[in-house]
Amino acid sequence: MMPEQDTLAHKFPAKFVWGVATSAYQIEGAANEGGRAPSIWDTFSHTPGKILDQSNGDVACDHYHRYVEDVEHIANLGLDAYRFSVSWSRVQPDGCGEWNEEGMAFYARLIEALTQKNIRAHMTLYHWDLPQALQEQGGWLNRDTAVHFARYAQEMAARFGDQLASIATHNEPWCTANLGYGNGQFAPGVVDPVAALQVSHHLLLSHGLAIQAMRKQNKSAKLGIVLNQWTADPATDSEEDRAAAAWEYARSVQWFMDPIFRGHYPELALAKIDRSRFIVAPEDMQTIQQPIDFLGINYYFRAYVSTETPPRLPEAKLGITDMGWEIYPEGLSRLLIGIHQEYKDLGLPPIYITENGMAVADQLEGEQIHDSRRIDYMQRHFQEVAKAIEAGVDIRGFFYWSLLDNFEWNSGYLRRFGLIYVDYVSQRRIWKDSAIWFKGFVQQFQHWRSSTKGTSTSREPT
Ligand code: FCB
Repeated sequence: MMPEQDTLAHKFPAKFVWGVATSAYQIEGAANEGGRAPSIWDTFSHTPGKILDQSNGDVACDHYHRYVEDVEHIANLGLDAYRFSVSWSRVQPDGCGEWNEEGMAFYARLIEALTQKNIRAHMTLYHWDLPQALQEQGGWLNRDTAVHFARYAQEMAARFGDQLASIATHNEPWCTANLGYGNGQFAPGVVDPVAALQVSHHLLLSHGLAIQAMRKQNKSAKLGIVLNQWTADPATDSEEDRAAAAWEYARSVQWFMDPIFRGHYPELALAKIDRSRFIVAPEDMQTIQQPIDFLGINYYFRAYVSTETPPRLPEAKLGITDMGWEIYPEGLSRLLIGIHQEYKDLGLPPIYITENGMAVADQLEGEQIHDSRRIDYMQRHFQEVAKAIEAGVDIRGFFYWSLLDNFEWNSGYLRRFGLIYVDYVSQRRIWKDSAIWFKGFVQQFQHWRSSTKGTSTSREPT
């Protein structure tokens, strides 16, 4: 147990938001229902050899039919907020043209169910599931996709923007580009790192265009983007390792942050990449550099950078997760403090931790799952968020990944991240010990908050 556990809940500002996150393809199922057309993840997961357990998201957690029960779980956890994504091909089957009203109605019902339970709805527009119809036209390599995306964003903002707490354009564009087009681990499965650069530019462009289009709707939802980030730590003090770490940080974190906050790509990265197929139109950088209302950060691990062969590996004092990811909570506070210092004078908005969580090989024992490692993981990461807040970083909320066990992309159903266990045969949801713990933690936070009668620090949201 963490030494400061009993007071941990008191370390967060009174208006701090606690929530859970999911994404459409990972939980919804109903792949062929309600007028939904396929996305690139349907195509990819149905391609033999792409998914570890040969599974797909056809049924997933059947959330499309069970959203009422799932919203009940969020309410019973005592949480303030829920982050979910929209399946673009459910609301606009071709990714352009006609809207599918049946698909829109699903999200209207979901948002209504959340509102009734006083749960703030945080929508992500793109969590990796591009309509397959747009892929046929070149996907994110085609600049027009950015224009279609902005039109879709505008429509979602127009319809739902006053009922949502926030709208994020993209989830982890680094993954879309580098895993979707760089190493082919994710849909659409292209292996072409030079193309991945162009994809990353189109993703950023689409973000800028979407923010512009949504702003014009003048709705109350806060607008932003969700980036996956890590610290890049050199394995040794050698000049080679330090240079490699700086390059790693430039090509991942700064590659997305600099265009948004500085209006240009990081020099260090630009100097090293293959620019033979990298096309940036003159006005693009200005389009990308739109003011945003919040930045979502997803944190799972650090980059440990070694130039030796074989590369040095981190000590992993706290172990590794079922994904094989090093548990390194300290990286979270270092990352947040670093980002704050680097971008605070460049319009860095309030930050939400939009994902953080741990895959555990959870075992059902009777009706219980004793996932004490996950509880420890959560506490340690909460502690680091508190540390960053203490250091002056404006962090407004934390969303645990994930509410439910779900379809973990190319790992299929083999990796369980949920606070709630899903028995995929019966679709029964069973609370893990971590869910019970999180509920208690949030309750403790809320009691403390009401006992201080809402007095708060100067870093409160307005
Ligand atoms: C993130 C993704 C999320 C989930 C977690 C484990 O990169 O955004 O969908 O897969 O990792």
